Amino acid sequence: MSQGHSSERTTTVRFPEGFLWGAATAAYQIEGGAEDGGRGRSVWDDFSHTEGKVAHGHTGDIACDHYHRLDEDLALMADLGLQSYRFSISWSRVLPGGFGEVNREGLDFYHRLVDGLLARGIVPNITLFHWDLPSALEEHGGFRSRDTVHWFADYAALIARELGDRAPMIATFNEPWCYAYLGHADGHHAPGLRDDKAAVTVAHHQLLAHGLAVDAMRAERNDLSLGIVINPSLARSEGEPPAPADALRRIDGIQNRWWFDALLTGQYPADVMEGFGALADAVLPGDLEQIARPLDWIGLNCYFDSLFSGLDPDPAQAGAPGNQPVLSFPTVRSVRPAPVRAEHTDMGWPITPDGFRELLVRLHHDYPDLPPVYVTENGCAYDDPVVDGVCDDQRRIAFLTRYLTALRAAMDDGVDVRGYYQWSLFDNFEWAFGYDQRFGLVHVDFDTLTRTPKASAHWYRGVVAANGLPG
Ligand code: FCB
Repeated sequence: MSQGHSSERTTTVRFPEGFLWGAATAAYQIEGGAEDGGRGRSVWDDFSHTEGKVAHGHTGDIACDHYHRLDEDLALMADLGLQSYRFSISWSRVLPGGFGEVNREGLDFYHRLVDGLLARGIVPNITLFHWDLPSALEEHGGFRSRDTVHWFADYAALIARELGDRAPMIATFNEPWCYAYLGHADGHHAPGLRDDKAAVTVAHHQLLAHGLAVDAMRAERNDLSLGIVINPSLARSEGEPPAPADALRRIDGIQNRWWFDALLTGQYPADVMEGFGALADAVLPGDLEQIARPLDWIGLNCYFDSLFSGLDPDPAQAGAPGNQPVLSFPTVRSVRPAPVRAEHTDMGWPITPDGFRELLVRLHHDYPDLPPVYVTENGCAYDDPVVDGVCDDQRRIAFLTRYLTALRAAMDDGVDVRGYYQWSLFDNFEWAFGYDQRFGLVHVDFDTLTRTPKASAHWYRGVVAANGLPG
């Protein structure tokens, strides 16, 4: 880290004192060490080892090899000046069978991680479930089974007992919408099902597991700071023909209102429940009360507005590849992805900082009981090479500047945001896209596993130090 920051630089966008700056990762995306130290398999091991599921047949077997390079990576975090590090625990590393016998060696890895962070003054922020369900539990029906809800609560209690004294900030789930619908309705993610009822069941069971886990963790310790991480997104029509208004309302219900209404008001939205009908049979009396446990904070992962077009009505287009309905929203079969915008990242995701601001403000207005917010993920994929030891990712800096400016504007509008985590610390295994999509502040050469902080990493270090954007 050689780039200094001259004293005459002015900071134009400042954040409140105490605002927490961090970076985020997830276990399966970085750890590797898939077969080491007694770790059990997860659904992502099984999925990535199934032909045709992940680009180029990539797997997380090695990933960034973080499991074996913990000290180097902790040093890197300290060097970047991170104030907090959000990571997830591999459930099958600590409980290879999903429940029952604890794998001490796996748990020790997280003890070392937490202790290493604290020794460097970095606040740990744990996520318990970032999609890598133990395969042993998937064999019992995964989150389609109500049993898994109780096994999750037991796992949560174990982590609270083991790590809660030093790492009190714990989120139960990461983006349960994705696990439910990408995993069970459109099959793009593990476990790769295409079954609407299974998806709705998993959506509900994750929330129920969340509520039970909150109780189970609080029973272990009364000083924890508990949250959950949701990925809300504004649904908008773009392109021709327009997406039907009713479809957009349903999408908003399934992606946004379902989660916030349940967690913060103790009810699922009536219109979504009516649309789901028998798909939501898993919702039993008393469940919502269990789900709506008070939270200390809520994490929001924000990347882009969700843009949809209507289906092309021309019968000649009926089976065309660009005219297929989106499958990840049960009861909605009348929209397709909008054409890729001119302004997009290498992932094809639109760049929508204004929507980010609008979304935060909307949540603040719609939910008077919205707890303090952490933006637990935000970032962009750009494939910039390392040339002579330098990765000059100016597009990432431009992207982050716009999103952080929008975030600050939302805070001026009254949204109580306490911190921001950049996704991601490293280039890593980007799920079904394999290693093609590079989200890191730190470049990883996946042949040599060499880490090279990008220009954005140096820039972000300056943002953290200045508590704002350099002018
Ligand atoms: C989010 C996931 C995270 C990463 C980013 C790009 O949906 O939580 O693991 O894949 O997208």
